[in-house]
Amino acid sequence: MSAGGGPAVNMRFEPSGGLSGSILAPADKSISHRAALLGAMSSEPVHIERYLRAADTRSTLQAARSLGALIEDHDGPVVVRGCGLREAREPDGPIDVGNAGTLLRMLPGWLAAQDGRSFTLDGDDSIRRRPVDRVIAPLREMGAELHARERRYPPLHVTGARLRAISFELEVASAQVKSCVLLAALAADGATTVSEPTRSRDHTERMLLRAGVPIERRGSRVSVVNTDELLLGEVRVPGDASSAAFLVAAGVLVAGSRLLIRDVGVNWTRTGFLRIVRRMRGIVLADLEEESEQLAAEEPVSDLDVAHGALEGTVVDGDEVPLAIDELPLVALLGCYAEGETVVRGAGELRVKESDRIAGVVDGLRALGAEIEGTDDGFAVRGGGGLRGGTLDARGDHRLAMMGAVAGLASREGVEVLGMDAAAVSYPSFVEDLEAVC
Ligand code: S3P
Repeated sequence: MSAGGGPAVNMRFEPSGGLSGSILAPADKSISHRAALLGAMSSEPVHIERYLRAADTRSTLQAARSLGALIEDHDGPVVVRGCGLREAREPDGPIDVGNAGTLLRMLPGWLAAQDGRSFTLDGDDSIRRRPVDRVIAPLREMGAELHARERRYPPLHVTGARLRAISFELEVASAQVKSCVLLAALAADGATTVSEPTRSRDHTERMLLRAGVPIERRGSRVSVVNTDELLLGEVRVPGDASSAAFLVAAGVLVAGSRLLIRDVGVNWTRTGFLRIVRRMRGIVLADLEEESEQLAAEEPVSDLDVAHGALEGTVVDGDEVPLAIDELPLVALLGCYAEGETVVRGAGELRVKESDRIAGVVDGLRALGAEIEGTDDGFAVRGGGGLRGGTLDARGDHRLAMMGAVAGLASREGVEVLGMDAAAVSYPSFVEDLEAVC
């Protein structure tokens, strides 16, 4: 069975000649989730232009509906008519988050503020292995009641309360956990502060600032003051830098390629992968946002102009990990083609993604001919020889499936991906887009 519950689809990707052409990047998954959730928490309608229509973000619309929001999802913008910060309705049964970890971690922040009402979140087999203890701890400290299977795994039960503001330090940088606390803080009784060891993606902070919420960031410490309502109005979702990364990798790896990927979000907290590629001497021309002390309200975009070229190995350390977390499998793939060694460390979080991505990357690429070793918190690749090809098991994980497809195009003998259908949770048109430029 696939991640979505249907039959698994296997697909072969043959070695390709140079890729050429232009692709509109699919809409950003992280920003789509946030726009739908903040829309559901608003009292005024929110119009979301270029909402990602994929399995994960459909789960968010469905969750919002079950909590009382009205959603118009036809052609064009999605319109969310929300319930207000404190007025989510108790649904008849469990809320099904499907395969969406971001929904699983962020939604409890809002639910925790629904005084006296109870909710259950559950999802597919992969979701039942995703830990939620890191959201349980801060929300309990704020006054809500939460229970999970073995204290750690879904189903997750939340009973809301009148919340206290807290000061909370995350041990591991996580945008999902940070966002969960920030959503709860909107209805707490004062100013809440969340700090992280290093910065993670800041889409929630930017959207809250745009919605008129008093929010500030200093370094990796964010403070937010409670509010009565969100005034978001309109959101335009940019292209997804993490989805675009698969096209970037294909363009960099396949000899003779020149690709333009249009309308990609280049928020500094999402472009760690592009900086890593450039450090590996990969050719990507783009107008990337610079790091800034000030919290920005906008989500900047740029086209990415990518060309094939020789690569050099690199080292990715812990402070860079949250800025490229979903693209680290691709760093391993690029490492197979780079001169010298490519090392990723401080990335233990990869073990609790849609699959254990350290095991999936190491076993998957080794089966295609890579010289790769796994460690507790990353991997090391000896590159230069490229990949022979073979069969890669996506393990129900969209990012492993898409990595396998790109590996096939760059390989000498082609790659069969077991479970290519997994890509549908974040990038439903991935295979079509590749076909269009092959
Ligand atoms: C996400 C944050 C990241 C990332 C995930 C999406 C988000 O997870 O891996 O795909 O939208 O906030 P963590 O914040 O748990 O590292």
